[in-house]
Amino acid sequence: MKKRILSGMRPTGPLHLGHLFGVLDNWVRLQDQYESFFMIADWHALMSEYEDPSRLAGYTIECAADWIAAGLDPQRSTIFVQSHVRDHLELYMVFSNFVPLGWLERCPTYKEQLRELSSRHLHTYGFLGYPVLQAADILLYKANAVPVGKDQLPHLELTNDIAAKFNGLYGNTFSEIEPVLTKTPKLLGIDARKMSKSHGNFIALGDSHETIMSKCARMFTDPERIKLTDRGHPDKCNVCTYYSLFKKDYAPEVHEYCIKAKVGCTECKRGLAGMISDYLADIRKKRERLLKDRGKICDILKQGAKKASKVASETMTGVRKAVGLL
Ligand code: TRP
Ligand code: SF4
Repeated sequence: MKKRILSGMRPTGPLHLGHLFGVLDNWVRLQDQYESFFMIADWHALMSEYEDPSRLAGYTIECAADWIAAGLDPQRSTIFVQSHVRDHLELYMVFSNFVPLGWLERCPTYKEQLRELSSRHLHTYGFLGYPVLQAADILLYKANAVPVGKDQLPHLELTNDIAAKFNGLYGNTFSEIEPVLTKTPKLLGIDARKMSKSHGNFIALGDSHETIMSKCARMFTDPERIKLTDRGHPDKCNVCTYYSLFKKDYAPEVHEYCIKAKVGCTECKRGLAGMISDYLADIRKKRERLLKDRGKICDILKQGAKKASKVASETMTGVRKAVGLL
């Protein structure tokens, strides 16, 4: 029998190249190796976006379209929306009774997010409990493994701590989970800062050819290269990193041309834009086609929720019994 994985993403904005290269391509690869559950974590999104959730539903649909366009197959993987499976909240509630506050207050991602999203009012009860809900997401499906980026490791450790504490209190119910670490290329935004929604510095999977051209034209380059005749330092240039993602054998060429000042930055960036646009062409077309029929996406998500519910309710039956609820 195949092992099971579960992973998720918060629908807080458009999906971009960082998601495609760090996460989605990995999920697509894993979906045949494992019995796979991929979840759009809208409850988690609401934890930070509760003041203005007006775009949550739209992002949820677009997220599903992006996933499918990038190669997740609803036939082979279970794709669903977290809030469609109420059992997540039930398990989250059971866990929240015994999770010590200290575990959550000490969690490095909590402190970091508070700092990063300082414009939001996140000193809330709900936000502190973010990893508890994530533990419920994972344990509800008795996933063996969770494909994530390194940033999520503290949450997986907490998940194992929570599972162990549950088992200690109510009897052996959950097994240990393992991370499947993704080798994520460090892709910076077009302004060479960390890629983030709030900086608006990413290339989205749905960006048009024109948008990609203009975003690439604005990309930060080697700050020491001012004149065309200046020799460049491609290792310090974000544009070169992007090149290496798209065509492994192209990067050395750019490298050489740059060092020898045989190519100007404008031309170099134009070449990159063309390459990105070509690369995304199929995904863009597929996602557009999908988004023309939102009803169909909703159907796919409904089917996914049905499949997910089957597993989830089984776990919850076991949990209710273990805890001793009537
Ligand atoms: N916290 C994850 C993130 O921000 C999203 C997430 C929610 C998740 N529930 C999950 C990831 C369960 C893996 C498993 O990326
Ligand atoms: Fe960067 Fe290309 Fe300019 Fe070199 S030529 S500094 S790699 S944009």
